[in-house]
Amino acid sequence: RTQQALIRESWRRVSGSPVQHGVVLFSRLFDLDPDLLPLFQYNCKQFGSPQECLAAPEFLDHIRKVMLVIDAAVSHLEDLPCLEEYLCNLGKKHQAVGVKVESFSTVGESLLYMLEKCLGAAFGPDVREAWIELYGAVVKAMQRGWEA
Ligand code: HEM
Repeated sequence: RTQQALIRESWRRVSGSPVQHGVVLFSRLFDLDPDLLPLFQYNCKQFGSPQECLAAPEFLDHIRKVMLVIDAAVSHLEDLPCLEEYLCNLGKKHQAVGVKVESFSTVGESLLYMLEKCLGAAFGPDVREAWIELYGAVVKAMQRGWEA
């Protein structure tokens, strides 16, 4: 099977419950880098703990947004350049809220962790490799937002 088929099949198992899987991703992210927690502030209020953040409706909306971006990438595997401008702007917005470009590597590790948790034995080395490539392409496009 092609890389694209591997991505589509594996994403089908995740995208049915995006928030649930997004919570796994972001719990892992806060474990790996607790300093990212203060970047999420709604109405200028800081969260006291990752648990508090992961329960906030605004944060769950961010999770939905993240999953939608990944969903868009999966739907446009044959034409990722059409997302380039959107992703560059998305990068700019993240730079503006204080995200460092390096943090997207930790997000990538957390994404792989979530996929492995969800897919179990179906998350073989070829699936993993396909996701590393796709996520890399998304980050490369977002990165341009920091350069501008
Ligand atoms: C918006 C933080 C990763 C997609 C935001 C906002 C913050 C934020 C503070 C504005 C408030 C909000 O909309 O909730 C972060 C941090 C990240 C991260 C700290 C990890 C280090 C990502 C990733 C994606 C993403 C990986 C998708 C691939 C979005 C989208 C928005 C957003 C679509 C809405 C932008 C808009 O309003 O047009 N992010 N984010 N974020 N984020 Fe993230």
